[in-house]
Order: sequence, then structure tokens, then C-alpha cells
Amino acid sequence: MPVAIDAIVNEAVASIRSKTDFRPYTGIILGSGLGTLFRQRDWIATIPYADIAHFPQPTVPGHEGTLLLGHIDSHPICALSGRFHYYEGHPMHIVTLPVRVMHALGIQRLIITNAAGGIHPQFQPGNIALIKDHINLFGDNPLRGIHTPSLPQFPSMLNTYPKPYRYAFFQLAKSSNLRVHEGVYVGVSGPSLETAAEIHFFQKIGGDMVGMSTVPEAIVAAQLELPVLGISVITNRCLPNLDDEEKTTHEMVLQVASNTAPQLYTLLRQWLQVDFSKYQLP
Ligand code: HPA
Repeated sequence: MPVAIDAIVNEAVASIRSKTDFRPYTGIILGSGLGTLFRQRDWIATIPYADIAHFPQPTVPGHEGTLLLGHIDSHPICALSGRFHYYEGHPMHIVTLPVRVMHALGIQRLIITNAAGGIHPQFQPGNIALIKDHINLFGDNPLRGIHTPSLPQFPSMLNTYPKPYRYAFFQLAKSSNLRVHEGVYVGVSGPSLETAAEIHFFQKIGGDMVGMSTVPEAIVAAQLELPVLGISVITNRCLPNLDDEEKTTHEMVLQVASNTAPQLYTLLRQWLQVDFSKYQLP
């Protein structure tokens, strides 16, 4: 049965519009352990997911469940503190509902952040890696069975993470003497972590980091023609020959991500100020 997503989006948007008519320009999804990134700010509206039609409550520690609307240095944003994961049991159209809702609120571009395991041997816990592309290994697709007559059924995924967005971020990191990586994000459903053989496979197919989010959201963003800045915080190493000492835990993921949050916040704040209409790649 196709899902009539427009009605669902309209009802969610109506819940938000009953509280504020604020129009954000940039949407931001805060990943595991990064929910506190914007905690201290004065918001125009903070809306608990419980007050938004069709938004479930996040069930994972490290994901709060609040929609934030307001300014960062006068730039109008909308941020999701808490995302919905496929592994929590939500259908894909709910996992990606916030992207459609933020689009309907007026966003013109999307920043997706996540915590990820580093497959590339040089990616260390605490490093930031920009997503230049992704590989969808969820075994599902958020556009499957979704009825949206006004949108392309077969959207191109070739320029999902535009180069100028990444390049500007690199330049900002460089001026702060920070090393930022770039890589291909492998999206898996989880919630079990990877076997050694799976990690080996991800390396072979060109993966640099692995995580359980982002890909569904980026696919819906592509359908909506929202350009994406994708950012992974590497929270653990994910190599096929690691011994038990390095076994990944969710607590470790949250700790490393929240330690990196202040650095990421500084870069994001600067990035939001870049005027991409005048931006030139070298
Ligand atoms: N695997 C999958 N998802 C993750 C990981 C990992 O090692 N670290 C953080 N999210």
C-alpha cells in the first residue's frame, strides 16, 4: 500500500505552524551525542516531538526529541535534536519525515551529522570526516512505496553532497589548524555492529566510515533537491583485525561525539555564514 506522505507532512507542519511562523533557511540533523551542540542558545521556538503530529519519541540514549527553531548569528535554522533510526523499528517514511517537514517549513539546504565507525585506517576517534558520497546498504529505500506525484520517482543521487559545501568546510577547518577527512559513508540498518568480514567488505567496496543513519535522509533530501552537507564524527575504529580491547559500545560513541561537539559547533557556525552564491572552487 503506497503511503500518502503529503497528508502526514501537512499534519506535522500544522502542529509546528500552530506555534510559530518562523522560516528556517538551513535544516540541521544532530547525530548521536551531538544533541547538545546547540543547547545553550535562545530559540524562537523549541517544540517537543510529542507536540508534533506523527513524530515518534526517540528511544535511543543520546537523542533528545526536540525541534529547535531560531538563529545562529542571525542565520535562520531549524535543528532536530534527536533523530529516528530504522533500527528502532520505524518505517522509512517516518525515519525521513523530519526532512520533508523541514523542507515544507522552508529550508533550502540540509546539514546531516552522525556518529560513525572509521573504516579508513587513518580515521581516528574524535576526527571529523565530511561525507563525499554514500553507499546504501540498508536493504531498503525511503522512496519505496511513497506516493509523491509532484516529485521525481527516480531522483539522481550524483550530486547529493555538493563539492563547494565540502570545500568551504575544509578551508574553515584549515584556518583553525584542524584536520578534516573526507570519505564515503556506508549506511547499514543496524543495530548490531559489523562483523570483521563485513568491515573487510566495506573496505573493498570503497567505504571509509559506517553508520546507521544519514543515507535515508540524504535520499529524501535529493528527491526534494535539498543540497546536503554531511558530517561524520568518527567515534570508534572499525577495522577487521581489532582485538576485543577495542570493542565499540554506545557509551563510547556518545562520549567521543560529545567531546568533538564544541569543535564541530565552531566550524558549523562559520560555515553557515559562507555566501555560496559568490563561492568559487579553486
Ligand atoms: N558501526 C555502525 N554504526 C556506528 C558505529 C560503528 O562502528 N559507530 C558509530 N555508529
